[in-house]
Amino acid sequence: MDEEGSDEGVVRRDRFSGGPARSFLSSLAADERIFEADLEVDRAHAVMLAECGIVDDETVGEILTALDAIEVEGHAALPDGEDVHEAIETAVIERVGPDGGKMHTARSRNDEVATCIRYRLREDVLEALETTLGLREALCEVAAEHTETVMPGYTHLQPAQPITVAHWTLSYESAVRRDTARLLEAYARINESPLGGAAFAGTTFDIDRERTAELLGFDSVIENSMDASSSRDFLLETTQALSTLATTLSGLAEDLVVFANRGFVDLSDDYASTSSIMPQKKNPDTLELVRAIAGDAAGAVQGLTTTLKGLPRAYNRDLQRATSHAWETVDAVREATEVAAGTVATADWPEDVLADAAGEGFSTATGVADLLAANGLPFRTAHEVVAIAAERGADYDAIAAAAEEVLGESLETYVDPDAVAAALDPTESVASRDSQGGPAPVAVETQLEAARDALAADEESLEALEASLETAHETLRAEVNGYV
Ligand code: ARG
Repeated sequence: MDEEGSDEGVVRRDRFSGGPARSFLSSLAADERIFEADLEVDRAHAVMLAECGIVDDETVGEILTALDAIEVEGHAALPDGEDVHEAIETAVIERVGPDGGKMHTARSRNDEVATCIRYRLREDVLEALETTLGLREALCEVAAEHTETVMPGYTHLQPAQPITVAHWTLSYESAVRRDTARLLEAYARINESPLGGAAFAGTTFDIDRERTAELLGFDSVIENSMDASSSRDFLLETTQALSTLATTLSGLAEDLVVFANRGFVDLSDDYASTSSIMPQKKNPDTLELVRAIAGDAAGAVQGLTTTLKGLPRAYNRDLQRATSHAWETVDAVREATEVAAGTVATADWPEDVLADAAGEGFSTATGVADLLAANGLPFRTAHEVVAIAAERGADYDAIAAAAEEVLGESLETYVDPDAVAAALDPTESVASRDSQGGPAPVAVETQLEAARDALAADEESLEALEASLETAHETLRAEVNGYV
């Protein structure tokens, strides 16, 4: 038997333990992140070995006692090893004697590491999911306060049509809602157990893979042992979902940077920064960092994809370098989401400044054209009339003159002057766009209600996922206590 599946591994390992590539091979330092996960995976595996009669209860009790002691001493106290799996096994053998090596019966580091990564990543993704809910909550709160606060809306960064702060806010809420959904989908595929796949080709021992999956809180077992030990598409999918979230955040951050530049939003000092030389400066640095994290995440997706591309089945050590991309991304994106939520929750929206700017650049032009079209003019003709007016003063008189020129008739034969005056008013303009999903306060109220319902539903899903991990943890602890 090779070093991946037998007690003799301890001896064989010595032959390969030195050499100039020792530290190059080692993932022990990086494995600190999966130290606790590995101990849990060891516990579940040991309990299953006892239950299946593969290792006697007394030996399993000693192994489990050793694992508890190793946990107390921490990752830093581990003996040297190529990785955390080897180091923990060595530490168990140091405490229990050669029988400690029975812990690694019927498994390999290949299925072990895949299980540890999934175990730890679940917790990280749950935390990232929490931050998306926090951001959605903050966006909803701003929306609730500002359903009537008109502001300019842009396309191509040019004034386009007046909207409200709530309409802008909820446009990001729905995008983040989809980001939450993508992460939840990724979570479902993380939450499957590879344990028992062994090196890649299964084992001669009569193990119970469903049982270890259950003890570790996994929803199901990854059936094919080769797939179980070597697939990392769950890392890619999770990193991609995080990268998409980061891209959403980058747009939100950019909008806020632009709004801050124009005085449309006043960021809290807590989320702004100053200059070391220019005393008057208040800079949106945190938002610029949020914007930049999308670059890190996209880079991680690229790095991970490139590492995984064309790898042969089954396990290859390239996989050791795949994992860090996911850890770095989940850490960075979680933090960026939290900062974005804090920035949104604490910013002020100066209503007067926004109202003054809402009509800038003849932003009500589309509404005037719509009005003419609603009164019998073909929309294309109405567009032409208003376009001419836009170049000549962009007010009632300019519109009336342009209408006469194009139509050969007075504007008043088509439309009531009061209605035109109303269409030119940003607040009225917003109120009139009450189509489904539009910026009119009444339409935004509907959107806000849907956003809050979706948020409550996702909160519930998240609580259920957290509770199921907690239950599994407690069940495993109770089983372990039966042996120690
Ligand atoms: N440390 C490795 C990893 O992170 C697991 C070890 C598998 N080693 C092996 N020679 N098959 O992927």
